[in-house]
Amino acid sequence: MTRVLVLNGPNLGRLGVREPEVYGSATHADLARQCAAWGAELGLTVETRQSDDESEMVGWLHQAVDVRAHVVLNPAAFTHYSYALRDAAAQVTTGGLLLVEVHLSNPATRETFRHTSVIGGVATGTVAGFGTDSYRLALSAIATRLA
Ligand code: DQA
Repeated sequence: MTRVLVLNGPNLGRLGVREPEVYGSATHADLARQCAAWGAELGLTVETRQSDDESEMVGWLHQAVDVRAHVVLNPAAFTHYSYALRDAAAQVTTGGLLLVEVHLSNPATRETFRHTSVIGGVATGTVAGFGTDSYRLALSAIATRLA
């Protein structure tokens, strides 16, 4: 089975509580369950993780390369400034794996600092603005690309 790691960055462990008008009412546990179910429908084995720690996320991206897992990455605030995460994400895509950047909200419609993604330039593609459905669309894109 094709393996996909769904990696969520800082503050996404607060889903359901944090600004539900922006990020929705689903909790991170709800999102993880949904991703596993969507993955199963698409023939993908999906594991969802969340961390507030940049070095832990870098380590998970290295692990994705080592175990040959594709990645759905919501870098959260790291999107806008983490060159460490960008360099780690680049190793996924240059390693021949797919990496889809996702966002629940559409950062392009929000504060100016959110308009820059340092990750987008090394991602296979980006899905933003569809709430938790952004993750379903990203998983579907991975399954379609691999078919
Ligand atoms: C986010 C958008 C980021 O700007 C923000 O820092 C987040 C979540 C999103 O999913 O919409 O934490 O990545």
